[in-house]
Amino acid sequence: MRVLIHNQKGGVGKTTTAANLGAALLRGRLARHVVLADLDPQMHLTAMLTPARSTPDWTVSDWLAGRPGQPVAIEGEKGLLLVPGTDAPVQNVAPQPDTFKKSWTLIDSAPAWSDHTAVLSHWAEIILCPLEPDFLGLSGVSRLLMRFAEIGVPRARLRFLLCRYSARLSVHRDVRAKLVERLGPELVLPVTVRSSVRLSEAPGFGQTIFRHAPASTGCADYTALARLLARPAAQPSLRSA
Ligand SMILES: Nc1ncnc2c1ncn2[C@@H]1O[C@H](COP(=O)(O)OP(=O)(O)OP(=O)(O)O)[C@@H](O)[C@H]1O
Ligand SMILES: [Mg+2]
Repeated sequence: MRVLIHNQKGGVGKTTTAANLGAALLRGRLARHVVLADLDPQMHLTAMLTPARSTPDWTVSDWLAGRPGQPVAIEGEKGLLLVPGTDAPVQNVAPQPDTFKKSWTLIDSAPAWSDHTAVLSHWAEIILCPLEPDFLGLSGVSRLLMRFAEIGVPRARLRFLLCRYSARLSVHRDVRAKLVERLGPELVLPVTVRSSVRLSEAPGFGQTIFRHAPASTGCADYTALARLLARPAAQPSLRSA
C-alpha cells in the first residue's frame, strides 16, 4: 500500500503517525517491510528515528528521482526502513514503485502544499490526513478538499484521522460530529489517536511508541489504525477510487 500522510496545517501529528503507524503495521504482522520516506525539509522523522546519525549521502531526493540507494534500517524495529530527509530542494518527483513484497510505503509530508504533493497524491492509494479536533483544524479541511478536487484526486481516497483526541472534551466530540456530517463516516476514521504524553516523549528517546511505552494508549491507537487500514475489505474500494 502507498500512503501519503498530508495536512498543510503544521503540528497535527503527521510525523508521529508516520513512525508509529509504520511500527504498528510491522508489529501486527500486517506488513513485512514498511518504507518511511521523509519528505519534510524539517526532517523531523529522520531526527526522530535516527537521532545519532551523520548526514546521509542518499536521501528522499535521490529516492524520488529513482537513483539507486538503500534506506536505513531502524534499530529495534524489524522491517522498518527510513528514506532520510534533506533540507535541499527536491527536484524530480518520479514516485517509486513498491520495492518489497508485502510492503507499505508511508510518506511524511511537510506542512505545505507543493507540486510534489500533487504528484504524490496521484501516486498514493490512501491519503491520510491527521488533524487536531478543533475549529481551526476543521476549517483547514475545506482547503484540503478544495486542493485535492482541483487536481482531480477522488475524495474516496482521503481518510481523516483525529489526533490528540480526548472524548471528554465537548469541542473534540463536536468537531468529530461536524466532520462526519460533512464528509460522511467513510472518510472520517472511526479510530482516533488520543492525547498522550508518552507519544510526545518518544521522539526525544529516538524511539517509536512501541519501544518507548509499550503499554500506552498510543500503542493501542496506532495498532487499531494499522488494523483498520490493512483490512482487505477496505483496500479494493480504495484502489478502484
Ligand atoms: N496524540 C498525541 N498526543 C500528544 N502529543 C502528540 C500527539 N501526536 C503528536 N504529538 C506531539 O505533537 C507535536 C507535533 O506532532 P508531529 O510532529 O507529529 O506533527 P506534524 O504534523 O508532523 O508537524 P509538522 O507539520 O511540523 O511536520 C510533537 O511534539 C508530537 O510529539
Ligand atoms: Mg512533521
